[in-house]
Amino acid sequence: MAILRGETTWPSILLARAATPDAATDIEAAEAAGAWTAWRQAAASLTPEQVVRLVTTSGLRGRGGAGYPTGDKWAACAAERAPVHHVVVNGMEADPGAAADRTLMETDPHAVVEGAVLAAWAVRAEDVIIAVDSRATVAIERLRGAIAAAEAKGYLGPRAMGTGRPVMVEVRPLAGAFVMGEETVLLRALEERRAQPDQRPPHPAHKGLWGEPTVVNNVETVAAVPWIVANGASAYAAIGSADEPGTTLVQLSGAVRTPGVVEAPTGTTLRQLIDGVGGGATGTLKAVLVGGPSGGFLPPETLDTPLGHRELADAGAILGSGSVLVIDSTTCLVDLASLLTRYCSDEACGKTIPCRIGTRRLAELGAAFCTGLTRPTDAALVAALSDDIRDAALCGLERTAINPLRSGMRYFAQEFEDHIVRGTCPAGVCQPIGIVAVAH
Ligand SMILES: Cc1cc2nc3c(=O)[nH]c(=O)nc-3n(C[C@H](O)[C@H](O)[C@H](O)COP(=O)(O)O)c2cc1C
Repeated sequence: MAILRGETTWPSILLARAATPDAATDIEAAEAAGAWTAWRQAAASLTPEQVVRLVTTSGLRGRGGAGYPTGDKWAACAAERAPVHHVVVNGMEADPGAAADRTLMETDPHAVVEGAVLAAWAVRAEDVIIAVDSRATVAIERLRGAIAAAEAKGYLGPRAMGTGRPVMVEVRPLAGAFVMGEETVLLRALEERRAQPDQRPPHPAHKGLWGEPTVVNNVETVAAVPWIVANGASAYAAIGSADEPGTTLVQLSGAVRTPGVVEAPTGTTLRQLIDGVGGGATGTLKAVLVGGPSGGFLPPETLDTPLGHRELADAGAILGSGSVLVIDSTTCLVDLASLLTRYCSDEACGKTIPCRIGTRRLAELGAAFCTGLTRPTDAALVAALSDDIRDAALCGLERTAINPLRSGMRYFAQEFEDHIVRGTCPAGVCQPIGIVAVAH
């Protein structure tokens, strides 16, 4: 995926070494560009508690979708008085349309591995598993290359960076599926058990892999940590928005002139991304799908919404995988919302009835909107059923599967009405049947 250039004032943290292509495959080039200095510095002069404190005061929040404060997660895991702690780095990139995490792993595998080692140091874990979709073969190869090169230099392994503590890092390719990125599903898959989510609490930080305290962090989250250690927590906290500072990777795709991955400060607006970075929509901009297949559709009038968990949730979307799909007027929102609902339903693992049956019924209602074979009460049924699914949710897939239809019906009510009441599809995609009430 092409790496796009952001505004000149935007800092480059996660993709800084994209300017040094050799850094992806050659540890000497990576080190010349700054890799491994943070871990060297931390191993020599920072206690695990100090690393946790640095991450906490930096304000870094998880980039995997939930936006949980990373320092709090590490502190909770470190505080568990268990003999064994684990770090699992989530590189599954389960959103099927996203490539930002893969771009990061391919471009700067050393940043991911170094960040993971710092996480292990912080929570006193001796093993790190980087879970990657088995189809991301280049990312797997580069991460393994980075691990082998760092181990040969003694940065990892039995006496990592001269600390006397072992840190063993491995890459674990797993079968890809949307639900596989969910943290408890991922942990069960790593245990070679049925890949289904668990009730929380307890959270993985307290009871994770093999029932032991485990930090699960996204690849982007850990890759920011070496920069924080090297440059200081306050320097990181000063970037982007105040309540979730730093930078994040955003993937621009769909009907945009220049698709690709860009590193943007949090708080950047959708308009800055689409018009500024992406060069605008290719056709008449109709909507933006933010957050992946269970994200929300936003209309053009909301393009000044900044990249932020709270702001996007208020607008009806999620930050999710950080993907921004630009949609032009040739796309039917009813059709796309229905397709995405069906996708989420197909990807449901089946553990809970509201998810297994509820999302299926929701998908059927969406499909009925496309054909016009629907009842006047179906819109209200979507609202009630999706409330029930969300409120009964065991995992985030179930909680967010309702987003495409809900946000679509909220912002594109006219288009839904055209299908349901008038039997027409303004985009000319569906063939709904107009049902006319006949007076007897
Ligand atoms: C359906 C679904 C898919 C997910 N996919 C991913 C993923 O591909 N990568 C990821 O890091 N987190 C994913 N998550 C979020 C994880 O459950 C978890 O919150 C995250 O890995 C924690 O890391 P963070 O604190 O660094 O964000 C997904 C969640 C859900 C519900």
